[in-house]
Amino acid sequence: MHRIAVIPGDGTGPEVVAEGLKVLEAVAARKGFEYETEMFDFGGDRYLKTGEILPDGAVEELKTFDAIYLGAVGHPDVAPGILEKGLLLRLRFDLDQYINLRPVRLYPGVDCPLKNKGPEDIDFVVVRENTEGLYSGMGGVQYKGTPNEVATQVMCSTRFGAERAIRYAFELTKKRGRKRTVTLAARDLKDVSKADADGNVTFVHYERGPMVGKLVEKSDRGIKVEVDGMLTLCAKTNVLTYAHGMWFRAFNEVGAKDYPGIFRDYAHVDATCMWFVKNPEWFDVIVVCNMFGDIITDLGAMIQGGMGIAAGGNINPEGLSMFEPIGGSAPKYTGQNVINPLAAICAVGMLLDEIGEADAARSVENAVMDVTGTKLKSLAAGRMGYGTSQVGDLVVAALK
Ligand code: IPM
Ligand code: MN
Repeated sequence: MHRIAVIPGDGTGPEVVAEGLKVLEAVAARKGFEYETEMFDFGGDRYLKTGEILPDGAVEELKTFDAIYLGAVGHPDVAPGILEKGLLLRLRFDLDQYINLRPVRLYPGVDCPLKNKGPEDIDFVVVRENTEGLYSGMGGVQYKGTPNEVATQVMCSTRFGAERAIRYAFELTKKRGRKRTVTLAARDLKDVSKADADGNVTFVHYERGPMVGKLVEKSDRGIKVEVDGMLTLCAKTNVLTYAHGMWFRAFNEVGAKDYPGIFRDYAHVDATCMWFVKNPEWFDVIVVCNMFGDIITDLGAMIQGGMGIAAGGNINPEGLSMFEPIGGSAPKYTGQNVINPLAAICAVGMLLDEIGEADAARSVENAVMDVTGTKLKSLAAGRMGYGTSQVGDLVVAALK
């Protein structure tokens, strides 16, 4: 029996969560697994009434569940930062959900703002570190409100934190198993070994060290190799020389030692934004620090069709994880039955995968693809051609 804690939250959160739970109920019946849910009223309304965001003992109570399903946080009458820090970030930190997993996949029938890009071009996953970096809360302010005011916000990165995110990303890349060929220019190559009996070579990149692949072509200009998958480190090593210098070393050390067959790609964060728009088909898995991950995944959401479809998981691989649509509480659409519930439904799919119901997870994702491909006019709130609850019904009807 899976036990799921549900936090519908603010704004449109409760509406989209209701559709997610509708789909959960239907897929459980179809696939024959059992679950129970318990509702928690944490969020802006409760805070305004009681002055309390998370009551004492709430985190301990949540820890008795197998997963958390979250709608949205953010209330127009609560100052920015209070609920975000007191609820969302607090749960991520206290439950040590050190991975923020955000798939960026363009489903069939979904309008993409990029010219000439289709579902075959946009299909990658962002692994965002979720517990440190600029989100650590370290820093302070002095001489506040005076012309001498000094403010610091520390990007606190630890080798431990970077390495566990990087390892998770390598494992995911291995699991996806997307073989591809990559071309390396001779000037980037320090060395290429002789091919073994299977045609595999060890090639040594000047900055990134040794990797292994099957040699496809070799010339004066460089080599072409087939690798088992590709992990891109997105960072800013040319400016954040301390923090991201450490990330870069961790990335290459872990990769060279434990995942030599996964190609280690690197892109600065600004260039990553450019590639998302220009060549999204390049990416397989991306690992990135907390703040840059926050930013690039909003761009990622746009190229997959918008906030109406983008879901994410705050994952503690050894503990309790929390799944959510990544868009906000959308106060202006609240209570009108116009908000798109697909992101919240996709979050249910991700939740099912994490609690060991992979077959049900696939079924939910396939049903969503069926609905985007054959039913919805648009993914935008109010323009779907259906109301929020009807979209939930369509997904239920499409479940196989
Ligand atoms: C997200 C959100 C949060 C973040 C906010 C609400 C604190 O933007 O989940 O991406 O910055 O992580
Ligand atoms: Mn964000």
